[in-house]
Amino acid sequence: MLARSITRASARPAIRHTTISTRATRATFKSFARDDGPEVPVISYEGGHRHEEILSMPVSTTSCPVTPAGQDEQKKAYQLDANAYKYLTPTLSRFTLPDKVAVITGGGRGLGLNMAQALAEVGVRGIAIMDVQQELGDKAARELSEQTGVDVRFYRVDVRDGQGIGQTVQDVFDHYGGLDVLVNAAGIADSNIKAEVYDHEKFRRLLDINITGTFLTAQACGKGGSIINIASMSGSIVNYPQEQSCYNASKAAVIQLTKSLAAEWAPYGIRVNSISPGYMDTALNRVPALDAQKRIWVDHTPQKRLGAVDDLNNLAVYLASAGSGYMTGNNCIIDGGYTLW
Ligand SMILES: NC(=O)c1ccc[n+]([C@@H]2O[C@H](COP(=O)([O-])OP(=O)(O)OC[C@H]3O[C@@H](n4cnc5c(N)ncnc54)[C@H](O)[C@@H]3O)[C@@H](O)[C@H]2O)c1
Repeated sequence: MLARSITRASARPAIRHTTISTRATRATFKSFARDDGPEVPVISYEGGHRHEEILSMPVSTTSCPVTPAGQDEQKKAYQLDANAYKYLTPTLSRFTLPDKVAVITGGGRGLGLNMAQALAEVGVRGIAIMDVQQELGDKAARELSEQTGVDVRFYRVDVRDGQGIGQTVQDVFDHYGGLDVLVNAAGIADSNIKAEVYDHEKFRRLLDINITGTFLTAQACGKGGSIINIASMSGSIVNYPQEQSCYNASKAAVIQLTKSLAAEWAPYGIRVNSISPGYMDTALNRVPALDAQKRIWVDHTPQKRLGAVDDLNNLAVYLASAGSGYMTGNNCIIDGGYTLW
C-alpha cells in the first residue's frame, strides 16, 4: 500500500492517495465514499488497477436507515454501437444523449440504477452515482462501467448533506467538464404509520431526505440541462390501505418543487420535470410486511401488476433528451392506471 499527497483544485481540501492492485477491469469507474471520520475514502478502477484516495471534507453527522437490498439479479446494460448513431432518423437521434454527463442520486439500486443503465444505453459518456450505501454503489458503478464502457463514478453521499453534495458536484465538473442531466431518485418510504402516533423525528427525517435532499441536489447541479425528480403518485393521491401521511406529503412537495424550479430556472435553460411512479416492484416494496397489501395494490391497478424496475427507463431518457425540449414543470404519472380509479 502506497500513500502520497496530491494537489487538487485550490478551493478543494487536500487529498491523500493510496494505491492497491486488483483484478483487471475493461472500463473505468470511480467510487467516492463518505465515512465516519474527518476524511472520505475514494475507490477508483482505472486501467485494471484499483486505487484508493482520501478526500478530506466535513462529514455528515446524521445517519440514514435504508431498506435491505432486493434479491433479484440486476439486468445487464448494453452499449450502443458508435456506428449506430449515423443511421438514426432525426426523431430517433433526439432520444439519444451522446457526450452528455448525468448525476443519479439513489443510483445504487432500484429505479435510480435502472435509469442510470438506460442513460448509459443511449450514449452518455459519464455517470456519477450518489448514494449512501457503499457496497451497492460501488458494485453498481463497476458493473455499469464494465457493461457499457461509460466512465462511472460512485460518490457515497447522503442527499441531506449539502457540503458533501457540493464537494461531489465540484468533482463532477472537474472530472467530466460539465453536467447535463440530474436524476433525483434517492428517497425513503415509511408506511403503515398512523398520523396520530407518527414519531416527530421520523417525520422530519423522511422530509429531510425526500424533499430537502431533492432541493439541495438540484440547487448544486442546476447549471443547465434537464433535472428529473422522482416523485410518486402518492404526491397526487392518498394510498390505500396503508397510512403514510409523511411520504405522501413529501412527494406532493417534490411535485410542487419541480414546478417552482421549472418556472424559476427556465430563463437559464434548465428544464425540471418529475416522474410519479405507481407501485413498483423494487426493494423498497419487497418486505414481507407488505405482502397482503400488495395484493390490494395489484387489484386496484387496471394493468393488474406492479411496475417493473425498468418501467421508468424510457420516460427518463425522454425527459433527459432533446426530445422533450419544450416540456418543463410537468409531472408524469406512470402507474399502470392506478390513479384512474
Ligand atoms: N418503489 C416504488 O414503488 C416507488 C413508487 C413511487 C416512487 N418511488 C420513489 O422512487 C425513488 C427510488 O425508489 P426505489 O424503489 O428504487 O427505492 P430503493 O430503496 O430501491 O432505492 C433508493 C436508493 O436511494 C438511496 N438512498 C436512500 N436514502 C438516501 C440518502 N439519504 N442519500 C443518498 N441516497 C439515499 C438508497 O441507498 C437506495 O440505493 C424513491 O424516491 C421512491 O420514493 C418508488
